[in-house]
Amino acid sequence: MHRAALDGLSLMVETGEMLAITGPSGSGKSTAMYALAGLIGLEAGRVEIAGRRPEGRADWTRLRAGPIGLVFQEDWLLPTLSAAQNVAMPMVGGRRRARDRLIRAEALLAEVGLAGMGARAPAGLSGGERQRVAIARALANDPSILLADEPTGELDRDNSRQIVRLLSELSARAGVTMVIVTHDPEVAAACTRQVRLVDGRIEGGP
Ligand SMILES: Nc1ncnc2c1ncn2[C@@H]1O[C@H](COP(=O)(O)OP(=O)(O)OP(=O)(O)O)[C@@H](O)[C@H]1O
Ligand SMILES: [Mg+2]
Repeated sequence: MHRAALDGLSLMVETGEMLAITGPSGSGKSTAMYALAGLIGLEAGRVEIAGRRPEGRADWTRLRAGPIGLVFQEDWLLPTLSAAQNVAMPMVGGRRRARDRLIRAEALLAEVGLAGMGARAPAGLSGGERQRVAIARALANDPSILLADEPTGELDRDNSRQIVRLLSELSARAGVTMVIVTHDPEVAAACTRQVRLVDGRIEGGP
């Protein structure tokens, strides 16, 4: 018998909300993020976005290419591309021309504190710098939903605060809905609401 990674999880995220998910290692936080992004199937239960249940792979792929931005717990940068090319990657297939994609990528890198570092290869960046490249990449297509798994896990206090400020501003200014997994109480406190996962469900939840 296996134990389900998520079990009885019920979570409603309001538009424009910045929700922090905390909880012990192995409690299902990353699994919940994968489920919210349609990257894993569920044995039971469902995910609805804006009142609609995405249907099938193509639908989820379309969502992840547009309205859903994703920051994984590991950065998953493509090692053979520069930082700017990594950030520009989700824009391929969109309306912007190659040159404009790179200009926007550099601007996003500047927003996460990496101005002028676009030409660097991921291997030439620190863990925290790679993490910030991954955040910039997640913002490439102006997502209306941002799912971020430990987006500041590799960052020092100052850089973590800068990222939290950027995310808070996006949430407040552009109404981006955010779900942020974090172990950092300061990051969680900067969110508009916090829930704690324990054994695959919300602690104290229904
Ligand atoms: N691919 C997998 N196959 C089987 N079990 C898995 C798999 N991925 C995760 N699990 C299990 O599911 C549970 C939840 O894992 P998950 O990665 O969601 O935890 P987490 O809360 O993100 O932990 P952490 O804080 O360490 O990142 C754990 O018991 C884990 O061992
Ligand atoms: Mg995890």
